[in-house]
Amino acid sequence: MIEPIYAASESRYDTMEYRRAGKSGIKLPILALGLWNNFGSYKPMQDIKAMAQLAFDKGVCHFDLANNYGPEPGTAEENFGRLMEGSFKPFRDELLISTKAGWDMWPGPYGNWGSRKYLMASLDQSLRRMKLDYVDIFYSHRYDPETPLEETMQALVDIVRQGKALYVGLSRYPLEKAREAYKYLSEHDVPCLLYQDRFNIIDRTPQNAGLLDLCQETGTGFISFSPLQQGLLTNRYLNGIPEDSRMATGRTSLKKELLTPAMLKALTSLNELAAQRGQSLAQMALAWLFNDSRVSSVIIGASSVKQIEDNLKAIENYSFTADELSLIEKLSEPVQLKSK
Ligand SMILES: NC(=O)c1ccc[n+]([C@@H]2O[C@H](COP(=O)([O-])OP(=O)(O)OC[C@H]3O[C@@H](n4cnc5c(N)ncnc54)[C@H](OP(=O)(O)O)[C@@H]3O)[C@@H](O)[C@H]2O)c1
Repeated sequence: MIEPIYAASESRYDTMEYRRAGKSGIKLPILALGLWNNFGSYKPMQDIKAMAQLAFDKGVCHFDLANNYGPEPGTAEENFGRLMEGSFKPFRDELLISTKAGWDMWPGPYGNWGSRKYLMASLDQSLRRMKLDYVDIFYSHRYDPETPLEETMQALVDIVRQGKALYVGLSRYPLEKAREAYKYLSEHDVPCLLYQDRFNIIDRTPQNAGLLDLCQETGTGFISFSPLQQGLLTNRYLNGIPEDSRMATGRTSLKKELLTPAMLKALTSLNELAAQRGQSLAQMALAWLFNDSRVSSVIIGASSVKQIEDNLKAIENYSFTADELSLIEKLSEPVQLKSK
């Protein structure tokens, strides 16, 4: 069967909001789509295509990947390459595509962490898998305590000089290392575009560690991943653990033990507050982040088109009264993650 040619929606930029990444020239859709878990070899290509096309049709022009996304590692990038060939090639200049290296990718001493050798080889592999000449953003996916920071940062600088990435980013660096890294990068005329960390109603770690303040101070954009705390901040687990859920598969850090009575109580009451606001819990959790002007964008994951549609509606109402914000603090306080 010949596949129909993808015609992107004419109204794709009508409802999305775009927010500047730090002090850069880049504006990000406040909601981006991440391909960590549901875009690899286990997911039918037609489902992947439906989710990615729906997102792009609604103005989600930022797709976030990493070398190891799948599962299996590498397969999310391979499937993204299929999307590029089958749907998105005519829209390359409308897309902001990121990838990363830093976690275990191939055997031996050169397939992990932050050496120049690993980062350079990994990006070449990512470009081949994604059928791209360059990525828009290349991240160091985590801080490597054994590699000199200058080596990792110089590799990022050189990657930009080679034209293989337009911008660079960091993910999950300790505060002082992030500060040193930003300094190195800006002194080499490749300022850090984005810092990526998990920040949401439950996980307050980057805020408490001073990373949001550091981003403000240095003009680096802050982009939050796992804004729904991998699905906890949705209606998914309010009445048990659905068989097709991330928690049931046990593939990530979202383990069943996290669903304690205290967590369930907090989620249930947050869900009631969301309902009073006329939102789903997922929408309120995203709106809470949109309401924070320090956050440039949030990267959601999704396992269905319906979830993306639900989440996009969060943009319609992200203002909160002071009472609502303090109630969110009170309800989430017992289950908040405050530091690593
Ligand atoms: N830099 C890093 O180290 C790092 C780490 C993690 C993630 N990330 C990035 O952040 C992205 C998002 O992470 P994440 O997938 O953990 O984000 P998330 O948005 O917190 O969680 C996504 C999951 O929540 C559930 N969900 C989403 N919308 C829903 C809705 N409306 N109703 C009910 N359930 C809903 C789905 O779970 P089910 O699958 O169970 O349906 C979905 O897979 C990743 O793809 C990746 O790009 C980066």
